[in-house]
Amino acid sequence: MRHRWMLAAVVLTACRGVQSALDPAGRDAGEISTLFIWMSAGFGLIWLAVMAIAIFGPRATEMRAERAERILILGGGVAFPIVVLTALLLFGFNSLARVTERSGEPGLTIHVRGAQWWWDIDYVRPGHEPVTVANELHLPVGRRVDVKVTSSDVIHSFWVPPIAGKMDMIPGRVNELSLEPTRTGVFRGTCAEFCGESHARMSLLVVVEEPDAFERWLAHQATGARPASGALAQRGEQAFFTNGCNTCHTIRGTRALGTVAPDLTHVGSRRTIAAGTLRADAEGLRQWITGTELIKPGAHMPAFSKLPEDELSSIVAWLAQLK
Ligand code: CUA
Repeated sequence: MRHRWMLAAVVLTACRGVQSALDPAGRDAGEISTLFIWMSAGFGLIWLAVMAIAIFGPRATEMRAERAERILILGGGVAFPIVVLTALLLFGFNSLARVTERSGEPGLTIHVRGAQWWWDIDYVRPGHEPVTVANELHLPVGRRVDVKVTSSDVIHSFWVPPIAGKMDMIPGRVNELSLEPTRTGVFRGTCAEFCGESHARMSLLVVVEEPDAFERWLAHQATGARPASGALAQRGEQAFFTNGCNTCHTIRGTRALGTVAPDLTHVGSRRTIAAGTLRADAEGLRQWITGTELIKPGAHMPAFSKLPEDELSSIVAWLAQLK
């Protein structure tokens, strides 16, 4: 008995949490989870009815064979599927119309580009320079925001289960979806299309905030990096350039203008680095720089495992400062 309860607890905990489509925190995810519950309940009832007929049907047909058979075939084989499937079709059409609705709001569009194995995110507003961040998507609660997704290498799939459905990210094509979070919190999205050996290490942190907190965050992300403070961080900034990190990474406000790797302008303000793989603190940065290939097999960034300790700790000190 205890085992059964434990099993039930394990199964049910899978329905909650930061990456569960059955614990919706967005309008579209709510639609999808309602549809799922109705379909599961409907098909569960149908299964029970079929089982009941399979068990008790033969006894009934012996009695009044011909009439019972006609009822079974016309009722169970024609009328019942027509009614059930039509109801589900209409219900599905209704959900589909709401899930595919665009906000059409000209104020803010978020462009997300998938790459092996990280997310490049641009906040685009008319009259403003685009604001580039990486691997951490911030959204205002209660607002519907249009998102345009694409890819720069292979096919990825953008999926934040608690907020909305999936959308393929295809090279050379822009697909659209809209996100409308309904409660604040930190959620987890993931790439939902196998895209190479580190596909499982391509997570996306989604931070849903009150609109004014979101605006403050966006305004801060739009600013350049703060100047290095302290001798260690200043040496770190120099070492960043002498080791060529700037050929791949951008740090706005400095000479680092590379575009093939995540923007690091405010990397220290993020919760994670390497697309949800490590914490964005000194320890995480150190692990990532020295052990890239171990942490994310196939990653395009080479591991700087031979970096002298003083250079490594200075670079880490500088990046951690970039809040
Ligand atoms: Cu990107 Cu899987």
